[in-house]
Amino acid sequence: MKKRVFIIVLDSLGAGEMPDAPLFGDADCHTLKRISASPEFRFESMKKMGMGNIDGQGFLPGEEKPLAAVCRLAERSMGKDTTIGHWEISGVVSSSPMPTYPHGFPPEVTDEFVKRTGREILCNLPYSGTEVIKDYGEEHIKTGKLIVYTSADSVFQIAAHEDYVPLEQLYGYCRTAREILRGKHAVGRVIARPFTGTPGNFTRTSNRRDFSLEPPKKTLLDALKEAGKTVYAVGKINDIFAGCGVTEKVYTHGNTEGLKVSLEALEKDFEGLCFINLVDFDMLYGHRQDTDGYARAFAEFDKWLPGFTANMRDGDILFITADHGCDPGDSHTDHTREYTPLLAYGKSISPVNLGTRSGFCDIAATAAEYLGIPYRGDGTSFLRVIAAPSEEELALCKAALEARERAYAPYSGYRVGAALMTADGKIYTGCNIENASLTPTICAERTALFKAVSEGERGFGMLAVCSGAGKPDAAFPPCGVCRQALAEFCESGMPVLIMKNEKEFRRTTLGELLPESFTPGFMKTDI
Ligand code: THU
Repeated sequence: MKKRVFIIVLDSLGAGEMPDAPLFGDADCHTLKRISASPEFRFESMKKMGMGNIDGQGFLPGEEKPLAAVCRLAERSMGKDTTIGHWEISGVVSSSPMPTYPHGFPPEVTDEFVKRTGREILCNLPYSGTEVIKDYGEEHIKTGKLIVYTSADSVFQIAAHEDYVPLEQLYGYCRTAREILRGKHAVGRVIARPFTGTPGNFTRTSNRRDFSLEPPKKTLLDALKEAGKTVYAVGKINDIFAGCGVTEKVYTHGNTEGLKVSLEALEKDFEGLCFINLVDFDMLYGHRQDTDGYARAFAEFDKWLPGFTANMRDGDILFITADHGCDPGDSHTDHTREYTPLLAYGKSISPVNLGTRSGFCDIAATAAEYLGIPYRGDGTSFLRVIAAPSEEELALCKAALEARERAYAPYSGYRVGAALMTADGKIYTGCNIENASLTPTICAERTALFKAVSEGERGFGMLAVCSGAGKPDAAFPPCGVCRQALAEFCESGMPVLIMKNEKEFRRTTLGELLPESFTPGFMKTDI
């Protein structure tokens, strides 16, 4: 079965303020909550997925039987911008924010830019993108000077009229700026902001282009590319990663096209990652504080989603998430420091609620594990928690359950069954066997282990434990003595399934149950 991961980033769809939001000037922000109050908000397929079950989304209706595994992700990076957000999703946490220029760029930057492009500049201040062309567009046309501006984000933006500065030339100026903006002036993005129209009626075109900094460390994308997998970048993903790790790319003009391209990607034959950014939420609605527009864009996505999930293949996993917030109803037009929502959906995913996790980077770790590449970036995989039970696991659980039927527990009434799988797939079962003098009692796990060992077995692959009979849905891990006995013969990475009932179990490992165990290796010393 070919394995594919689709990550869809709903750009700026934050899931509520992070505890440190006040430090970013963003107290009381909540993008999703804000747009959910709009009459344009539609919440049907995302409700079924379980978005309302995510921590901190109590204002949305919950779902009793959600389709997706869900959680809320905290951002570990010190930032709230697109680049840092996407890098973190891909396994790279940034410990310091990128430089910003509330008073414009210093002469060491602008002088060099003017010298190398041969064009003077206008503005050089933080400015709204629509206002800047209104205020400087005419002068730009008359003088040929470029409109250079920034925002509260780490961006160097160049606006130019498409009829006076051809697109390729504008992109060339951006590349020049990108070369200049290094070291302490390594801004997150240089952005080409072409526009058209006549004075009083200037409008920006969709030929915006981002020129990002290369990620400082290896990302999930690089690792997948190295492993020979496909990394298909949709929308501005290629720019955000400065092309690093991307094997195929398509730029899109807005959400509607992004959604169409995503559906087409489902039909492509590949193994690896399809990474999609839907930018309109942020660019058209978040920054412009258009709550209804934002809600409409969400409604479009909500309506589109079932058509996508219906066409997903057995080996596909879909992650839906965001890169930061941009509450359209807060006091400023910039991004907001928020948690992001995460929904993971696919045939191989159990709809578990993971609560709140620390780090967007857990997505990268999980995707890497699923796709079978040895990538170790920042972040911890939660695949083990959300992976749907395999045939092998279900068979082992069934055996443990049957073994529990044979428990001999007249004194405690506590019945336990265990099933231990050998490396080559053979199953040994055991139950607890009590004794009138109590101490000779043996646990189910050791019964299974000793049966297997006395038959000559040595290598083991997995253990299932079924306990708590009489207490519905109670799941108890093995006792300390059994952990020690298992550690003698089993690897610390051996999966242990702690069963709640016939179908549900929690996955752990022997090493997690017994860290720093005293194992045979310690006995091999010269005394
Ligand atoms: N027991 C097990 O079989 N496995 C464990 O890991 C915990 C305890 C049994 C022993 C005894 O018969 C009963 O549960 C109550 O302790």
